[in-house]
Amino acid sequence: MAFKLPENIETRPIAILGAGTLGRRIALMLATRGAEVRLYDPDAEVRGAGVAFATQQLPRVLESIQGGRAGTIVGRDDLAAALQDAWHVVEAVPEKLALKQEVFKQIDALSAPDAILASNSSSYCTSAFADSVENPARLLNTHYLMPPRATPVELMSCGRTDPAVIQLLADVLPGYGLTPYIVQRESMGFIYNRIWAAIKREVLAVVAEGVASPQVVDAIYTQATGEKNGPCRRMDAVGLDVVLSIEENYAEHRPGLPESPRRLLGQMIAEGRLGVKSGRGFYDYDTPASGRAQETPR
Ligand SMILES: NC(=O)c1ccc[n+]([C@@H]2O[C@H](COP(=O)([O-])OP(=O)(O)OC[C@H]3O[C@@H](n4cnc5c(N)ncnc54)[C@H](O)[C@@H]3O)[C@@H](O)[C@H]2O)c1
Repeated sequence: MAFKLPENIETRPIAILGAGTLGRRIALMLATRGAEVRLYDPDAEVRGAGVAFATQQLPRVLESIQGGRAGTIVGRDDLAAALQDAWHVVEAVPEKLALKQEVFKQIDALSAPDAILASNSSSYCTSAFADSVENPARLLNTHYLMPPRATPVELMSCGRTDPAVIQLLADVLPGYGLTPYIVQRESMGFIYNRIWAAIKREVLAVVAEGVASPQVVDAIYTQATGEKNGPCRRMDAVGLDVVLSIEENYAEHRPGLPESPRRLLGQMIAEGRLGVKSGRGFYDYDTPASGRAQETPR
């Protein structure tokens, strides 16, 4: 079905659904060209915290964006009001297929007919939501990492996305301080997530086989790459249960992946070693906490 690209995008609002870890960060970045960004979340506390986070961070982020201008970030508890006249809608609601399908039905019914609709889902391709919208030509994945620290955004077609929609976002997102990459075909797992999944898998195999301790793996990795934290410490921050469920998801879709990484994670979880949140994982932590996980791509 033909799709008419949105006009006047410089002045029209943008709507973000879900004000959690990613939604508030997406709102922050998309508020850097002067327009209004509406953050919709049914949870008033999260919504308020999301608006506060994005508003506080905005001046600092603007320092690194040439020609950037502070937009207004507002919370909305009414979906229709959040979507009214928005040229772009990004959903960052919890990773539940049925919820996302329902959310896209609502967005489709309430948004402007020329609005570009995007999902930030890490594991569902937007082809899974294509039946929820009347015109999938306007639907795609925009997968953000962890802005403002990590600025890549992967753009992936739902299979029926109008190529002009992908090109429009690839053209304008750099102006918001983001770094878009076009994914050339549908993929279970985005480009960066697949690279990181491979690193995690091999690190777990090295440890499971007794080739090296987690400490040695992290020491070599950080010295070789210049990164602050090695893979074992990063997996501890995310939570080893989350790491296992992601790996199980890959294994379900790609038969033949080695089992030793999943076995090692299963043993550690059975021993109560879930990482930072349980006080021990590959490392011991004085105080169980989950804050760092929010800073670490999963
Ligand atoms: N956290 C990450 O590292 C990360 C990275 C990339 C992509 N993602 C993806 O982003 C999405 C959101 O993840 P998150 O970590 O920000 O989750 P989160 O749990 O931190 O936030 C989700 C928010 O959505 C809200 N919500 C629930 N139902 C809603 C509805 N119907 N409409 C609007 N909001 C609703 C919740 O109240 C919550 O505040 C997921 O699809 C996830 O795969 C997450």
